[in-house]
Amino acid sequence: MRQPQPDLMDKLVSLCKRRGFIFQSSEIYGGLAATWDYGPLGAEVKRNLKDIWWRSSVYERDDIEGLDAAILMRPETWMASGHVSSFEDTLIDCKSCKKRFKVEHVTGKACPECGGPITEPRQFNMMLKTHLGPIEDAASLTYLRPETAQGIFVNFKNVIDSMRRKVPFGIAQMGKSFRNEVTTKSFTFRSREFEQMEIEFFVKPGTDEEWYQRWVDERFKWYVKFGIAKENLRMRRHEKNELAHYAKACTDIEYQFPFGWSELEGIANRTDFDLKQHARLSGKDLEYFDDETKERYIPYVIEPSGGIDRSILAFLFDAYREEEVKGEKRVVMGLHKSLAPLKAAVLPLLRNRPEIVELAHKIADDLKKRWMVRYDDTASIGRLYRRQDETGTPYCITVDVDSLTDRKVTVRDRDTMKQDRVEASKVKEYIRERLE
Ligand code: GAP
Repeated sequence: MRQPQPDLMDKLVSLCKRRGFIFQSSEIYGGLAATWDYGPLGAEVKRNLKDIWWRSSVYERDDIEGLDAAILMRPETWMASGHVSSFEDTLIDCKSCKKRFKVEHVTGKACPECGGPITEPRQFNMMLKTHLGPIEDAASLTYLRPETAQGIFVNFKNVIDSMRRKVPFGIAQMGKSFRNEVTTKSFTFRSREFEQMEIEFFVKPGTDEEWYQRWVDERFKWYVKFGIAKENLRMRRHEKNELAHYAKACTDIEYQFPFGWSELEGIANRTDFDLKQHARLSGKDLEYFDDETKERYIPYVIEPSGGIDRSILAFLFDAYREEEVKGEKRVVMGLHKSLAPLKAAVLPLLRNRPEIVELAHKIADDLKKRWMVRYDDTASIGRLYRRQDETGTPYCITVDVDSLTDRKVTVRDRDTMKQDRVEASKVKEYIRERLE
């Protein structure tokens, strides 16, 4: 198990900025708390993560459809889901320093930071509000969705009818969610704008517990498959008093972050709560008719709900390594190859030899047709390797003087640092075999 490394957070935040993974939002104005921008390489990691989730959830399964619902929804949605009445935190304000704390973070009768006087606990709804249309009044009030799940529930009938689906089946969706979080430390872990990857899996009541367990196991394996060390993951079943208002059971997949074990993804048995509520408030029939057994029922729902930003943070932490090579420190982002932003870098050893530059460009241009690849000749080879190691690039290809006669190039593996001499015309195939 990983030893606690208190400075790992600082190291990762610094690497993310230095190498273009993640920046503070609105940084030039002093930053906007708990919102983050993905830089050129972070944006690529995010695309890759979404791609592997979508592939394993939608393409590789026969029982899940994809969906991309709007962020803005009718306000009744949030009344039905319970978010208007129960999506709340109990908060205490400090009258002196004006900071706001969750009630569980205040132990005495004074501000935990400045010792000043505090208010009584107050309820605070975490949904971000906005108004649609020209007039800002109660009738135009709506919310930025705090979870993607409700977009799925309100489309349950549309998907079942258009795709002629039979229960059990699921709907998968990724996208932005917004929460006016109070505790916002720990980098991207708890953001006010973030992305979720959620599946609502509809099952026959009575089969829900079996499906729930299947999904817990499935999702745990997914994180391991894409590179998180098993010993840094655990499952934690919620106690009855921790369960959300809609859930009969919930298991969190937790990751051992440098600041402690924390939730990566929750798998909940949401019962028939949401569909029943939407049927009640909309007046629409959301029952499912099983034409084989002639039964009519509201399906139960198993929901694996993960955070895209939070997963990226865990994948980055788990990938970060410091090694000593020939007396020098090497920092490597050992990301799973499918998540690595750049798949290869082409590094000509002499940038003033036109034939070397030409061959290097030819190789890079060919690889770029398939993957994100960088051509870099801006430093010595040692520095270029270090740069690519920190970025997590699985393969570095160097073109040297010998390449002009033997038409071979050197391919260096990020993890083993082993170098292979490969025919220039076969580099793409060499990399494809190893990446795919
Ligand atoms: N639909 C169920 C739902 O939204 P949740 O446990 O509130 O459940 C699911 O959120 C996942 O979304 C969490 O496990 C986490 O990965 C991510 N998440 C929730 N709030 C977040 C935040 N403020 N910042 C980043 N990720 C967040």
